Amino acid sequence: MPVSIGIAVIGAGAIGRTHIETLARMQGLHLAAIVDPMPAAQALAESLNVPCLPDIASLIDSGLARGAVVATPNETHEPVSSALLRAGLPVLLEKPIAESLEAALRLIAVGDETGIPLLIGHHRRHNPIIRAAHDAIKAGAIGDLVMATVTCSLAKPDSYFEAAWRRTPGAGGPLLINLVHEIDLLRHFFGEIAVVQAISSRDRRSFAVEDTAAVCLRFVGGGLATLCISDAAVGPWAWDLSAGENPARFPAHLVTPHLYAGSRAGLSLPDLALWQPPGNPDWTVELQPQRLPVTLADPYEAQLAHFVDLIRDGGTPRVSARDATANLILLDAIRLAAETGQQVAVDLSPLGTES
Ligand SMILES: NC(=O)c1ccc[n+]([C@@H]2O[C@H](COP(=O)([O-])OP(=O)(O)OC[C@H]3O[C@@H](n4cnc5c(N)ncnc54)[C@H](O)[C@@H]3O)[C@@H](O)[C@H]2O)c1
Repeated sequence: MPVSIGIAVIGAGAIGRTHIETLARMQGLHLAAIVDPMPAAQALAESLNVPCLPDIASLIDSGLARGAVVATPNETHEPVSSALLRAGLPVLLEKPIAESLEAALRLIAVGDETGIPLLIGHHRRHNPIIRAAHDAIKAGAIGDLVMATVTCSLAKPDSYFEAAWRRTPGAGGPLLINLVHEIDLLRHFFGEIAVVQAISSRDRRSFAVEDTAAVCLRFVGGGLATLCISDAAVGPWAWDLSAGENPARFPAHLVTPHLYAGSRAGLSLPDLALWQPPGNPDWTVELQPQRLPVTLADPYEAQLAHFVDLIRDGGTPRVSARDATANLILLDAIRLAAETGQQVAVDLSPLGTES
C-alpha cells in the first residue's frame, strides 16, 4: 500500500474549505493540518480531528505535511508561498498568484532558485470540459478565432464583502478575483493577448475597487474578444454559475457564458456545443450543434491529483508561476486601460523568454 500523502491547507476560508472537503473525498492523500489563526479554523480542525497551527513556521517545524495548499488572501500569497518553498514544501497556490507583478516576480525567482514544485490554482484548466475544448480548438475545430464573448454576472451577497480585502484595491474586486480565470482560459485557448481596452465602474457598490467592467481584447494571433463582468449584476451567465464545478457552493444553470466564433465553426461552453456548417460558412443555413465528447470530473480533485503527481515525481506544473503572472500582467493592463481610457499594449517582457 503506498503511503498516504499529507497535505496542509493554509487559510480555511471559503476556498480553503473547498480544498479540505476535496481532500476528504480523495484516495492516497489526507489533510495533515490546517494553518489559520482564526477561531473558526480551530473549530473546524477539531471537528475533523486534525491539528490547527497558527502559522507557517509551526507547520514547517511540525514536519506533518509533504505539500501545502495556500488559500489565504492575495497579499499573503508571496510571503507564505516563499517560506514554504524555501522549507522544501511543494505549493498549490490559489489564484491570483500575487497581489502585484513585483510580488509575483519575487515568487517566480524563489520557485526557480529552490526548484520545488509550485502550481497555481487556476483550477478550471484541470476541468475535462476545458481540456476537451482546448484539444478541439488546437486541432482546428473552429478554424481561426474571429471573435469571442464571455459574460460573468456574479451578484454576490453583501456578507461576501465583510472581509475587508475583498473591497481593497490590489486585493479585491471582480477583475482580480474572477476575471483572472476568464483571462487565463482565453490565453490558454487562443494564445497571448496583444492589446486591451476597458471601462470599469464603481456605481453599484461604491467600494474603492470596481464592481463592474467591460473589456475588449485583441489576440496576438488575430481575433477579438469582449468580456463583461460584475459582482452586482443578477443573471446566470457566468462560468461559476453554469459549469457545475462547485455544486456545494453554486447552482449550475443551463446557459453558455463562453461563446467562441471562428472562421470555420462556433463553440460554446460549458456545454461543449460545436456549431459547424454543413458546407462553406453561410449565415442563411441552419447550424446543428454537435456536442464534443467529455467525461465529467471534479476539477478541484483533478488539480489535487496533479499536485500530488508533482510532489511524487516532479515535472512541469500544468499552470506555472510564469503563466499565472502573465494573467496578472493582463489585469494590470486592463486596469490601466480603464483608468486612462486608452488602448494598452500588453508587455510580457518581465517574464523573460520562458513565458
Ligand atoms: N480557485 C477559485 O475558484 C477561488 C475561489 C475563491 C477564492 N480563491 C482565492 O483563494 C484565496 C482566499 O480566498 P477566500 O475567498 O477563501 O478568502 P477568505 O477570506 O474566505 O479566507 C481566507 C482565510 O485565510 C486566513 N488567513 C489570512 N492570513 C493568513 C495567514 N497568513 N496564514 C494562515 N491563514 C491566514 C483567514 O483567517 C481566512 O480564514 C484568494 O486568493 C482568492 O482569490 C480562489
